[in-house]
Amino acid sequence: MPRIQILVGSEMGTAEMVAASAKDYLEANGYEAVVNPLPEVADITDNPDDILLICTSNTGAGDLPGNIQPLFLGLTRDFPNIAGRRYGVINLGDSSYATFAEAGRAIDHAMSELGATRIGEPLVLDACSGDDPEQLTLQWLPQWTSAL
Ligand SMILES: Cc1cc2nc3c(=O)[nH]c(=O)nc-3n(C[C@H](O)[C@H](O)[C@H](O)COP(=O)(O)O)c2cc1C
Repeated sequence: MPRIQILVGSEMGTAEMVAASAKDYLEANGYEAVVNPLPEVADITDNPDDILLICTSNTGAGDLPGNIQPLFLGLTRDFPNIAGRRYGVINLGDSSYATFAEAGRAIDHAMSELGATRIGEPLVLDACSGDDPEQLTLQWLPQWTSAL
């Protein structure tokens, strides 16, 4: 089974917690999974067999957290060959912001513009909802992995 590399963007740790839960779930279900807290394009291109799971929050006004910006910049500036690579998206935002979930959509768009193939619909987590983001992630993952 291919490895799943979880590419994390987080300012205050929520997306990191979600990524850790996702890793635990994936490993309990027979996958090898790694959490990458400082993702860059080379982490994708050097590991061509990895399935990618982007797990990022939004900050500023629809901006990506600083730790995942190198990946986004690399995608949009260097146009790496990632055509056909499979990926999923967990997008953590807050619907009280006018720029709700925009940064997660931007990196999803950047991946698909380069020909990567998103598996399933993104999981959009709204901090405003009061729901537990880790629980929602554990509910979403079975359908995501079944589509891999
Ligand atoms: C300063 C600040 C700016 C934010 N800006 C946005 C935003 O533009 N769009 C959005 O959907 N959520 C925004 N959020 C909400 C966060 O994305 C959300 O709370 C998320 O769960 C935080 O995850 P993290 O702890 O991994 O950074 C913002 C939160 C903070 C504190």
